[in-house]
Amino acid sequence: MNAGAAEQRVQPNQKPTHVTVPVALRSRAYDIHVGRGLLARAGELCTPVLKQRRVFIVTDSNVASLYLTPFTASLAAVGVRADHVTVPAGEASKDFTHLEQVLDAMLKAKCERGTMIIALGGGVVGDLAGFAASVLLRGVDFIQVPTTLLSQVDSSVGGKTGINTKVGKNLVGSFHQPRLVLADTDVLTTLPRRELLAGYAEVAKYGLLDDVGFWTWLEANGPTALAGGEKSHDLLRDCIVASCQAKARIVAADEKESGERALLNLGHTFGHAFEAEMGYGGALLHGEAVGIGMVLAFEMSVRLGLCPPADVMRIRSHFAAVGLPVDPPKQGPRGVITPAMLMAHMTQDKKMKDGALTFVLARGIGKAFLTTDVPPRVLEETLQAALTG
Ligand code: GLY
Repeated sequence: MNAGAAEQRVQPNQKPTHVTVPVALRSRAYDIHVGRGLLARAGELCTPVLKQRRVFIVTDSNVASLYLTPFTASLAAVGVRADHVTVPAGEASKDFTHLEQVLDAMLKAKCERGTMIIALGGGVVGDLAGFAASVLLRGVDFIQVPTTLLSQVDSSVGGKTGINTKVGKNLVGSFHQPRLVLADTDVLTTLPRRELLAGYAEVAKYGLLDDVGFWTWLEANGPTALAGGEKSHDLLRDCIVASCQAKARIVAADEKESGERALLNLGHTFGHAFEAEMGYGGALLHGEAVGIGMVLAFEMSVRLGLCPPADVMRIRSHFAAVGLPVDPPKQGPRGVITPAMLMAHMTQDKKMKDGALTFVLARGIGKAFLTTDVPPRVLEETLQAALTG
């Protein structure tokens, strides 16, 4: 944990209002602001990156009812006009149909190249709005205002945008960096607990990847961070800052995932296969699938003789302590889930290289690495053990 490396914006005689994490991407560099009350300060915080006194907001039905009015009021207070489009809440909005609707709404509102697009919502809204911004008029700027823990610590940072197709998740998209990210930690108080926990799986990922110190801090503080209340609020902010710092460092080193950035997919090859099999209908949330997938990645690492078994026990016991699922679902809409069904989903993965699957494995907590060298037999045995255990 090194929140001290981030810039603290301090008003005279006041505690810092928020922490700023810079993403060092030369001409595409931007700041991530993390703290309380940022939605109400959106006008003041967005103004420095606006080219016009107008913006176009993409949001969803849940977020709109909670935050659209105060958010647009904050923009209006500094003379910024906001048009908006609302998509239905849920993963189903991340498709070609809604992309077309969003682009049509932007064009009907006469968005110009200088009009800032704002994604106000969770990962679905961020990915959809970001992709729309990347193709509207051949590319316009956008701001991410993530309203879930998962989107605050992962999807709003790093410029991955996209939609799902019939073939698989996130297979159509672009790298398009936001100009600013506003992560208002107050919004987490209205987040259902299950969503909060799903986001926490992505927080834990940063410890498992390369920071055993952060993992140990999470073991000590994670349960309190997720328990609610004032103390929880400050700890969650620390989780978000540490996660954004970790992600910002990796993205700055490898923006377009030609190497190190693929480490951020720890747990995702397994997780996406279970998500696809469960049908994206809310039976298994993305973060839950990633949590289960990380356990499987460590179990496969043990099976390959790479990782001490005690580390898997540590991960299982921490996830169980905070209330995250650790074992995969055994039944899906198509009936009993088999290794073959999961392996069929995995071969659709965009991380395939020359026909081989890329896995993030680990030599222990905080020691993750990439490999394409996993014998199919070991993969099948890992899945079989998880599905029958
Ligand atoms: N969520 C993984 C990445 O942004 O690269």
